[in-house]
Amino acid sequence: MWNHANTLTPMIQLLTTPIFYVNASPHLGHLYSIVLTDVARRWKLLNGVKCVMSTGTDEHGTKVDRAAKLRNMSPQQHADLHSAEFRKLASLAGAETVFVRTTDPLHRAHATDLWKRLVDNNMVYKGKHSGYYCVSDECFYTKDELELNDKNELVSKESKHTVEWLEETNWFFKLNSMQKKLVDLMKTNPSFILPRVRHDSILKELKKTPLADLSISRPRSRVPWGVPVPGTDAENLEENVDTMYVWFEALANYLTAATMHGCTDNFELTHVVGKDIQRFHTVFWPAFLMAAGLKTPKQVVVHGHWTADGVKMSKSLGNVIDPFKLIEELGVDTVRYALCFDSTLDSDSAFSVERAIERRNVNLVNKWSNLASRVCSKKFDAIKALETVSKANLPNSESRTELVEACTGAAEIYEFGKYLHILNDAAIKMNEKLHTAAPWEDPNSTNSLLAVAEALDTCRVIAILLLPVCPTYSKRMLDSLGVKEERRTMTYAAQFADLDYTPAFEPVVTRI
Ligand code: MSP
Repeated sequence: MWNHANTLTPMIQLLTTPIFYVNASPHLGHLYSIVLTDVARRWKLLNGVKCVMSTGTDEHGTKVDRAAKLRNMSPQQHADLHSAEFRKLASLAGAETVFVRTTDPLHRAHATDLWKRLVDNNMVYKGKHSGYYCVSDECFYTKDELELNDKNELVSKESKHTVEWLEETNWFFKLNSMQKKLVDLMKTNPSFILPRVRHDSILKELKKTPLADLSISRPRSRVPWGVPVPGTDAENLEENVDTMYVWFEALANYLTAATMHGCTDNFELTHVVGKDIQRFHTVFWPAFLMAAGLKTPKQVVVHGHWTADGVKMSKSLGNVIDPFKLIEELGVDTVRYALCFDSTLDSDSAFSVERAIERRNVNLVNKWSNLASRVCSKKFDAIKALETVSKANLPNSESRTELVEACTGAAEIYEFGKYLHILNDAAIKMNEKLHTAAPWEDPNSTNSLLAVAEALDTCRVIAILLLPVCPTYSKRMLDSLGVKEERRTMTYAAQFADLDYTPAFEPVVTRI
């Protein structure tokens, strides 16, 4: 189906979000996954990297099956309903992406192919399995990972979801035999997991604790809603058939996505995932791929959670923010900006709508859009100002080159919150500088013209750098500054790298 041997075709970077469970409607956390991935994709594109994205829905398994039954629907009908919502959300979020559904035959073919590769490589065996299973998290937990809640139920310490005791015969993946390869992978590639602290802690754990083999199937009698294990799917063979473990099958979606993008052997995977599912992506998934003889992902980017009142926002806790309403009320670019500005990878963040509005009104309107409108006013001759600038006659300014370097440093490690703080600080400094220069007192003096040119240049460079996060506002800014299409690239994101534009300003973004 695919292999990774060819080195002649140009490498395509495939950035992926996790695929979302269809047991409920999307919430803000899901929107964040999509936004962060799309921002990174647009950043890479801006830098000339061939980059595509995938998202989608995880539609099999007991969790989804139970949710459908509760609503008196077939699991397929139920999946269709919710999958459509996630697809709509991805589109409203401004993501340009393929959308994988695990109930599609193409995906089933990929999951089956992956399974067969493991069988061919003698990496699976049948064995007895017992343990505490959590339907909500779709995984087994060890006793150490459990605690009693106030209703005296056994729950996962991490997710607080209840578990049930299960004993069954399943297919096992020889995860333990992959331990050394996983350690080597992480040792030789210190940025395999971002942020670095997570990389170090997972590597430390892998070096210390032996991995248990992983059960990768469920009896079909218990979990009928899923992809059958190949070789046991014969017609009328009702007994002794197995279903692939939903996580095994779901992870294969990244290979389905590559095919949907027309990539065969020429792609590199970067996964953006929440911290709750890092183990699946940093341990199980690379182990499956290596065992199947396929290339490991390039990177796994792990982010924190959005919280409300200090706890993870999740449908089961009833503390979610409706992403559709948020985008409708604030506009997609404001939401993208706020989600990035107020988050970092290595900690959780508390979301508030009021603060998102403040980010728009203060950062985007007051500091950036208004800065441009001030210097584009009729009082100043913007074109003359740009003409006044010459290489020999640069104002003694904060260099936009430093700005670009700082932004690049942050973006390369997916710290788009830091990235936006750097841009906002640049806008704040420029506003202060303009205030001190007070060009309105003597608009035609050389110093005034240079101050105006510098403010214009700052707005222009910020607009280019904001393209990945706020594509619409940035385009509007560049359109009103009259920046030529072909000059909206990183090459021109440098101090006075472009002086050939004709500002005629319209407000880019207004207060709400
Ligand atoms: N279906 C699995 C993923 C399979 S990928 C092969 C799953 N789905 S999920 O719908 O529960 O979560 C999808 C993503 O949303 C995860 O990365 C998760 O971390 C993220 N978020 C869910 N709630 C979140 C927050 N409150 N905050 C930020 N992101 C969180 O897991």
